[in-house]
Amino acid sequence: MTDAIPVITVDGPSGVGKGTISQLLARKLGWHFLDSGALYRLTALAALRHGLALDDEAAVANIARNLDVEFLTAEDSDVRIFLEKQDVSSDIRTEKAGNSASKVAALPAVREALLQRQRDFAEPPGVIADGRDMGTTVFPQATRKFFLTASPAVRAERRYKQLKEKGLDATLHSLIEEIEQRDERDRSRRASPLRPADDAVIIDTSVKSIDEVLDEVLSHCGEIVR
Ligand code: DC
Repeated sequence: MTDAIPVITVDGPSGVGKGTISQLLARKLGWHFLDSGALYRLTALAALRHGLALDDEAAVANIARNLDVEFLTAEDSDVRIFLEKQDVSSDIRTEKAGNSASKVAALPAVREALLQRQRDFAEPPGVIADGRDMGTTVFPQATRKFFLTASPAVRAERRYKQLKEKGLDATLHSLIEEIEQRDERDRSRRASPLRPADDAVIIDTSVKSIDEVLDEVLSHCGEIVR
C-alpha cells in the first residue's frame, strides 16, 4: 500500500536539523509529516506516567501499541501533541523525555509495536518521515532517502539554543555528554540501529544553513517535487 505513495525519509542523530528540514519540506510540498521520535518520546512519557520501568519490554510495548495520541495542527501550523487527552507538546521535548525515549527505543518489541502506526502516516499526496530508521526499516522502499550528520559540538550547540528558546533548562557540557551517550545507545542497539540506508544521500550539515540544506535536499528530489 505504502509503495504507491511517495515517501521521503530524513534520518540522522539528534541536532542535525532533521526536524526543521523535514517540516519545511512537508510544508513546501503540502505532504504529511511523520515525527517518529515523538512516538518514542510519547511511549516513554506514557510508561513513566503509568509507573512502569523503562526496561520492562512487554509492558512498555503494550503501552506503545495502545498509545492514545493525537497530533493536532494549530492555525499557526504548529503541531500540538496530546497524550491521553492532555497537551504534552512541551513535556516530550525535555532532555529527560529524549533520554527515556532512547531507552525504550532500544527494545525490539517496542519498535515492532510502533511500526504499523508509523507506516499509517503514508497517505496521499505523500509523507516526509523524520527519524533514525525511516529509510532502513520503516520505509525501505522510500522514493528518496536522506541521512543528515553534523559534528557532536555543533549538534550540542544547536540543541542548547533550541532548549533555551523554549525556556527549558540545560548546560552545554551536559548536552554534549548526553548526545554522545544517546548516539552510542542508538547506534549500538540490535534492533534497527541508527545508520544510513545504503541508498541514502548523506549530507553533513555542520557548516550549512537551513536554506542550503533544504536546497541540497530538493536538488535530489527532481521530478517528485516538480
Ligand atoms: O528524534 P528524537 O530526538 O525526538 O528521538 C528521540 C529518541 O527516539 C532517540 O534517541 C532515538 C529514538 N528514535 C528511534 O529509535 N527511532 C526513530 N525512528 C526515532 C527516534
